[in-house]
Amino acid sequence: MLKKLLATKTFESLQTEQSNSQLKRALGPWQLTLLGVGCTIGTGIFVLTGLEAAQHAGPAIVLSFIIAGIGSFFAGLCYAEFSAMVPLAGSAYTYSYATLGEFAAWFVGWNLLLEYLFAVGTVAVGWARYFVKILQHFNIDVFPQALLNSPFTSPDTVHIVATGAVLNLPAVFIAIVAATICYIGISQSAFVNTIVVVIKVTVILAVIGLGAAYINTANWHPFIPANTGVSGEFGWSGIIRASGVIFFAYVGFDSVSTAAQEARNPQRDMPFGLLMGLAICTVLYILMAATLTGLMPYKELNDAAPVATALESHPQLRWLSIFVSFGALAGLTSVILVMILGQSRILLAMARDGLLPQFLGKVHPKFRTPYVATALVGGFGALMAGLLPIGLLAELVSIGTLIAFMMVCLSVLVLRYTRPTLNRPFRVRWVWFCSLMGVLFCGWMALSLGAGTWYRLVIWTAIGTVIYFLYSRHHSKLHQSEHPARR
Ligand code: ALA
Repeated sequence: MLKKLLATKTFESLQTEQSNSQLKRALGPWQLTLLGVGCTIGTGIFVLTGLEAAQHAGPAIVLSFIIAGIGSFFAGLCYAEFSAMVPLAGSAYTYSYATLGEFAAWFVGWNLLLEYLFAVGTVAVGWARYFVKILQHFNIDVFPQALLNSPFTSPDTVHIVATGAVLNLPAVFIAIVAATICYIGISQSAFVNTIVVVIKVTVILAVIGLGAAYINTANWHPFIPANTGVSGEFGWSGIIRASGVIFFAYVGFDSVSTAAQEARNPQRDMPFGLLMGLAICTVLYILMAATLTGLMPYKELNDAAPVATALESHPQLRWLSIFVSFGALAGLTSVILVMILGQSRILLAMARDGLLPQFLGKVHPKFRTPYVATALVGGFGALMAGLLPIGLLAELVSIGTLIAFMMVCLSVLVLRYTRPTLNRPFRVRWVWFCSLMGVLFCGWMALSLGAGTWYRLVIWTAIGTVIYFLYSRHHSKLHQSEHPARR
């Protein structure tokens, strides 16, 4: 039994899978970078920056972004080594399968499901809010409130109560539109993503560039507000607490690695796309956080649309705020798009290995996309976005991602010792230091998330473990030859 749980896939078999890939190799280095930026910049910068500055960190939210960025950077290095060596769709799931064994791989895949699937729902709900804001700006009042809100809400993140609404229609709409684009093709998805990324990055640069002239440096003092006496409310504990929440802003840069099988030259371009995307996002986050806290006192940023609020506090910048709403809408669209893209590729990899039903691995003969998985992810995301109080799942998304990052950091180290001679087109230098720092920083942020999040993670893991023992273990292709009758 233990032997099976620890069974690993060989690199030789991964290389065969890679050469038999039916997916279309269409992506160059900058398209990969833009996929990363597309999937990363979203709710984090447009919503969480202000909330976390106001509630936990003050102007030192900049330091929270740096801490989350350092953890992501070490994980990014490890992702880069793997994605160049094993350019397959499964990302962290595949890397763990080749190093830590089948059960660890299942655990990572199950957590990636948390990351991508729930993020689609969470971000689609944020999209709907900005959509309604734009309708209000233009005095368009055609939709009844019952079709603009979730039928359920969670006032205390534990209990769920009915709101009287029927469906969050805009959230359902955007999830379906994004899934349709992913269904049609990788080139089309990359094209739409590129346009959307250009719009959102332009808006962010405009806020930073034009806002700079109106920064009042007095707003940055004190840079680290004194702790209130409650752990996590300002001071250093507040910075760490905020970094755990703000980590949501970095979720998604790893999605580049799920497109490895569709990269034209993965050995060279995967490390570039991953690390360049991460660098661009980190710089933009730090500048945006400094700008917002400089434009107005941090306590007044406690708002679901803090960028617009900060701009509106200066009459000369008010005209920019409607563009920010459009930029946010664009930003969130590409996050949803690339999340669906990433999740469907991970399902494809897990189905290919037999850990999930085979139909999830079907590739469309004309579009060359994993169409069944795409339709399912889009449908499930739309359902969650339309019905559920998604807010309470956002921290779960972060913890799922942090666990995947830690596993990738560990896997890189393990593989250096178990297969030292493998060809590594990109090598992490000082591998001990980098992978342990990745584990340490990501673990630190995971621990700063609330007890409720850990509690939900345990339930999620328990469900996954039951599915593994009831289904996946018996259908795993790795064990196929040992139990032919069971298949
Ligand atoms: N990083 C993504 C966002 O901030 C999930 O929306």
